[in-house]
Amino acid sequence: MPKLDEPTRARLVAAALDAQSAAYIPYSHYPVGAAILTSDGRIFTGCNVENASYSVTICAERTAGVKAVSEGARLFRAVVVVTNNAVFPCGACRQFLTEFAEDGEMLVIAANSEGHISTEVPISVLLPGSFGPDDLEDGVENGTQ
Ligand code: THU
Repeated sequence: MPKLDEPTRARLVAAALDAQSAAYIPYSHYPVGAAILTSDGRIFTGCNVENASYSVTICAERTAGVKAVSEGARLFRAVVVVTNNAVFPCGACRQFLTEFAEDGEMLVIAANSEGHISTEVPISVLLPGSFGPDDLEDGVENGTQ
């Protein structure tokens, strides 16, 4: 299980709460905020951004992750996700985050809108047997086309 010191955890929760307040949610009215700690110590935040064409909606975790990668960060150590009911990321976000998990791991922390942490687990627990870059290479090597 990856470790996180208390001040860093508190900074991440505060950053995720701040991001949650920017959520664009005219359809679901369900605000989500995320804060990702990268292995070089930076913090990137994101909120959910909805769209009238519902399926175009982007989750908070992926907003934060895309911001991190586009700023040159490719290893994620931890993410705090803030929702009104302290739930874990959706399946698509679990897959997205796994791609950049440091050593194939990262800590996923769920907090509520008061910043109280409900629980935390490594991403591999949330998405066991995930599809990754190695699987793709095997498939290319063994492919029939
Ligand atoms: N949402 C997130 O931002 N992250 C998740 O992990 C689950 C769902 C957003 C998408 C949509 O704007 C709203 O929550 C309701 O599904």
